[in-house]
Amino acid sequence: MTRTETSGTGVEAAMRGLEIALPVPGSHLDQDEEWVVVRQGRGWRKIRLHDYNEVYSVPGLYEKWIYELFQCRSPQKIRELLGHALEEAGVGPGSLRVLDLGAGNGCVAEELQGLGVEHFVGVDIHDEAAEAAERDRPGLYEDYVVGDLTALAPAGEAKLASDAFDCMTCVAALGFGDIPTEVFAAAFNRVEDGGWIAFTIKSDFLKPSDQSGFSSLIRRMVTGGVLELRAKETYQHRISTDGEPLLYDALVGRKRSDIPPSLLGS
Ligand SMILES: C[S@@+](CC[C@H](N)C(=O)[O-])C[C@H]1O[C@@H](n2cnc3c(N)ncnc32)[C@H](O)[C@@H]1O
Repeated sequence: MTRTETSGTGVEAAMRGLEIALPVPGSHLDQDEEWVVVRQGRGWRKIRLHDYNEVYSVPGLYEKWIYELFQCRSPQKIRELLGHALEEAGVGPGSLRVLDLGAGNGCVAEELQGLGVEHFVGVDIHDEAAEAAERDRPGLYEDYVVGDLTALAPAGEAKLASDAFDCMTCVAALGFGDIPTEVFAAAFNRVEDGGWIAFTIKSDFLKPSDQSGFSSLIRRMVTGGVLELRAKETYQHRISTDGEPLLYDALVGRKRSDIPPSLLGS
């Protein structure tokens, strides 16, 4: 059993009480087209995975769908790679101050709490993510900022400015119309030099043919000395609706300097 399956709050009970149905195998849905139907009262409600606000509004749905049925392993993979890198560097997880970008309802922070990390601030674009994090994992985040990091409202800006982050996590949230390169860079640049960067990304987005901008950004960050890579591993993020493996890369490294605007261009 993984931590994401055994969350100490009402998540497990909510998962047990959910009735959901998936599209028939062979639907060939791309990752941003996947959907589920959920029984609500006497009817069924169709929810698209990438409509995260709707997903999070149903307690237990994200965990049941993505972690239980689709066997998502990304939070565990990040915990494993970050844990090894910290150990090698002689850094105690308990000292980290983590900015969790695309935090959702807290599955990644919960996993890292198991490693001994204690301080998390979440950032997500959806109010429902912040509400679900507090509903499902109360008290896990010291703070949670909702908004676009490239255009934050003053209250969110003040919350982030009052912290000193030495770690950023971003799991299963890059590309696909989710987090663009500019938002990733804005979060990265809030981390102190020398801080830890741990993220996952679909392996296709690191190929030369990538159109999301991440392939060239990450290559330039590494070759330009902005990010010193400590670990990189291709792994099975989860299965798709058709039961096919979806391959992602997990990367862990140390920030050496800010991402300059010139690295974001094509
Ligand atoms: C697949 S979920 C991953 C959630 C969490 N990291 C996990 O692994 O359980 C992607 C998350 O990214 C968030 N997201 C999408 N676009 C975003 C943006 N521009 N800024 C911040 N978060 C965003 C979504 O709301 C969603 O919570």
